[in-house]
Amino acid sequence: MDAVLPVYQDAVVANFYNGVVLAAVEAVVAGLEDGRQLCVLEVGAGTGGTAAMVLPALQNACAQYLFTDVSEVFLLQAQQRFAEYAGFMRYELLNIDADPRLQGFALAQQHLAIATNVLHATPYICNTLAHCRQLLSPGGLLVVNEVLETNAFAQITFGMTDGWWLFA
Ligand SMILES: C[S@@+](CC[C@H](N)C(=O)[O-])C[C@H]1O[C@@H](n2cnc3c(N)ncnc32)[C@H](O)[C@@H]1O
Repeated sequence: MDAVLPVYQDAVVANFYNGVVLAAVEAVVAGLEDGRQLCVLEVGAGTGGTAAMVLPALQNACAQYLFTDVSEVFLLQAQQRFAEYAGFMRYELLNIDADPRLQGFALAQQHLAIATNVLHATPYICNTLAHCRQLLSPGGLLVVNEVLETNAFAQITFGMTDGWWLFA
């Protein structure tokens, strides 16, 4: 018997909070003036659980969805998984812990940035948030879907991995 514990996608908690992200995205889309399209950047998009939730809602309202992660393997997987959105999807490496300008990102281009369970994985949250802000256009919105408390499940799973306790 396959015993797979869903964590990010198809899990009750992840689905609930990705649904909250979707509601925020839908509200932004609903507020768009006629003919305007969004530039969206997802930080630490990883296995694509959040992207899978929001992409259908963005399909006709998005000029570009930048799917980024610090790890290239996620970008390669996502290119296959989200092939149906190829018209507006772009895939780029981005370490949100480092200055986006030094990684080839133009400043102030994104109307919307989305970050699900990634910002905690950086040592200095002030730097991380400043980098998110650099990427946003004036009035741009950062949607943060982030764990706020630790618990036994997290500690004996992710807590054993390098990087989980990176904060300084
Ligand atoms: C806990 S996973 C969440 C993945 C995805 N957002 C989701 O909810 O399915 C954290 C992700 O952040 C990425 N990550 C870790 N440190 C990062 C950094 N400094 N900059 C950008 N992404 C990072 C990891 O590669 C991983 O894909």
